[in-house]
Amino acid sequence: MSILIFLLIISSSVSAQERLCGNDLSNLWLDVVYVIDNSIPMTNSGLIRASAQIISVFGGNTKIGSGFSDPRSTRVGIVTYNTNASVAADLNRFGSFNDLVSNIYGVVGSVSSSNQAILDVGLTKAKEVLDSGRANNVRSNYQPVIVIYASQFVSTSSVLKTSENLKNSGITIITIPFAKNVDLSPISSPHSNIDAGGYQTVTDIQNRLLQINCFCPNNYIHVKTSTKNYGSCIKVNSLAAAWIPARLACSASIAGGYLANELNQDKHDFIFETVQNSTNFHEPYSYFIGLSNSGNGTWFWERANGNKVALSTQSFWNPNYPPQSITTPSYVFNNQTSSSTIGWQTTGASAFGYICEVITCDTDNYCS
Ligand SMILES: *[C@@H]1O[C@H](CO)[C@@H](O)[C@H](O)[C@H]1NC(C)=O
Ligand SMILES: *[C@@H]1O[C@H](CO)[C@@H](O)[C@H](O)[C@H]1NC(C)=O
Ligand SMILES: *[C@@H]1O[C@H](CO)[C@@H](O)[C@H](O)[C@H]1NC(C)=O
Ligand SMILES: *[C@@H]1O[C@H](CO)[C@@H](O)[C@H](O)[C@H]1NC(C)=O
Repeated sequence: MSILIFLLIISSSVSAQERLCGNDLSNLWLDVVYVIDNSIPMTNSGLIRASAQIISVFGGNTKIGSGFSDPRSTRVGIVTYNTNASVAADLNRFGSFNDLVSNIYGVVGSVSSSNQAILDVGLTKAKEVLDSGRANNVRSNYQPVIVIYASQFVSTSSVLKTSENLKNSGITIITIPFAKNVDLSPISSPHSNIDAGGYQTVTDIQNRLLQINCFCPNNYIHVKTSTKNYGSCIKVNSLAAAWIPARLACSASIAGGYLANELNQDKHDFIFETVQNSTNFHEPYSYFIGLSNSGNGTWFWERANGNKVALSTQSFWNPNYPPQSITTPSYVFNNQTSSSTIGWQTTGASAFGYICEVITCDTDNYCS
């Protein structure tokens, strides 16, 4: 009995935190193409180490291939390159994790007779693998990733342009330099140049893949700080509406949409900054969030599909709010009190702009 009460207390305090991105490797859902240098400097043992690392990254029960009853799976393609590039495995080659483990060494093969490796040709081939494996909208809702293993790199305007085009088309590029003096950072996406020799390398790659797998639907903004990605997305709406129509607009505009929560300072600040950055809002800023009280004194946050959670201790009330006694339905809006401060106030029927929220697509939340 006391254990049950203890668990209930824990789960109710957990539910009032800002959501973080899912981090369940067994439910990773991506399309990943490896671009592996097989020139002589890479060495056969280097190729074996790269293959072992690829297996290790998916060793947390990641479902490899497609066609599982749970759509959350990861396809793996492999391109090898020297002065030429070839498709060692297209995105449908590996049908399971065991298939990957048994066959990757053979698929990657041994080093070529070439001393040179031209990354540009490898990247171009990887693009072909993604284009053909994802043609006709196949898995267009899955994030595409290119992971490069290279023992040499010459930065040319051509390879910089190729990588820029890939990144602009929504592909994340992770680079793993396989020699000390190789600097692949001009090619990689932000935070995606990973040291091959670190004892943390596998975890670093897994964490990058989990972050890439955490993204927002079109037109929603991912809630982030410089060091942290939260598991929610917001959309600001400047057109004034009363709270109940605003709430309906959020749930009608996207599956699982609701009026935004502000469960910590990061989120409160992020929403304020996003409103300040939006050309449609004007000072003094005021906008509804998903906090309300039906008139009995208890404050609730909106959640997806009509669910609610009680307000916890973290709050951002302006001075003299909330009113001491609540007897009629009351709705919370942020009201700007100085150029840099904004806090919560209550209203009954006034109309304001409003902030909608939806949780991120991630390993805990598949978005079709
Ligand atoms: C690269 O591919 C072309 C066309 O398939 C071929 O003629 C050439 O010999 C290849 N070069 C190397 C170094 O493999
Ligand atoms: C707002 O704009 C500034 C300046 O462009 C930018 O640095 C900041 O990241 C933006 N903040 C948000 C939350 O979009
Ligand atoms: C107040 O009303 C809400 C429904 O709007 C209900 O869920 C909650 O339990 C009520 N709280 C109290 C203290 O009666
Ligand atoms: C917001 O706060 C300012 C400054 O305290 C106040 O003048 C204004 O009336 C408030 N706006 C609303 C809608 O209550």
